[in-house]
Amino acid sequence: MDIKLLQDAAEKIRNAARVVAFTGAGVSAESGIPPFRGPNGLWTKYDAHTLDINYFNRHPDEAWKTIKEIFYENFRKAKPNDAHIALAEMESRGYLQSLITQNIDNLHQKAGSLIVVEYHGNSQRLICRSCNGHFPISESLIQNMPPTCPSCGEILKPDFIFFGEPIPIKAHQFALKETMAADVWLVIGTTGEVFPAASLPFEAKYKGKTIIEINIQPSNYTYQITDIFLQGPASQITRELLKEIHKHG
Ligand code: APR
Repeated sequence: MDIKLLQDAAEKIRNAARVVAFTGAGVSAESGIPPFRGPNGLWTKYDAHTLDINYFNRHPDEAWKTIKEIFYENFRKAKPNDAHIALAEMESRGYLQSLITQNIDNLHQKAGSLIVVEYHGNSQRLICRSCNGHFPISESLIQNMPPTCPSCGEILKPDFIFFGEPIPIKAHQFALKETMAADVWLVIGTTGEVFPAASLPFEAKYKGKTIIEINIQPSNYTYQITDIFLQGPASQITRELLKEIHKHG
């Protein structure tokens, strides 16, 4: 890692009145949750249509089998890694004001981040689209497939956004507000290929905000809007960045 880039990034963050982190699957890769795209991505093993809302509505039994395997068996034991922890510490020390995540794994929240906007929802809750009940995930709830609403018996759906579903309105409004309010966008571990989430850093850049990006490889943003590109694994870079911010903090 080029120390000068790290120092520049740390200085921008220290001098900003408001910093927002915008995270994607790359942040959780080191917790053992594979990203969606790329050579070892989820979509090399599973068909993305499983997470299409029309498929789910038509074939809930089939869809739930795969959803259970991916989200409630394979990733059940995933723990926050150093990147989640460093981001939570940045917030508690006042260097970061909010975090917008596309991840549905709840790991930022587990690490202690408080202001977390779940742009794509959260896998750790199930919702009933009939009576609007929300239920924290539990063994008993997913024992029988497909899981049904304890109140009204309707088939439950994970409380995350499927392909074809709109972004939760409050999350979208908050994110748009941050494109105006935050001076620095810290974009970590996302390809910038899935819209509308992907458009947020572009919006911020058009409004004159600084884009600092952390990724193991260039993304859609890197050569278009990124001001400072810190190449490397999210855990290592966020740790080093926090240390650098502290030095002069
Ligand atoms: N550290 C930093 N970045 C990493 C790491 C790591 N250890 N490992 C992978 N990456 C980067 C990859 O280089 C890639 O740019 O993380 C990114 C992961 O990209 P995607 O799998 O496309 O994930 P994301 O951008 O979050 O996907 C967006 O797509 O399917 C939907 O709803 C789903 O929220 C998801 C959305």
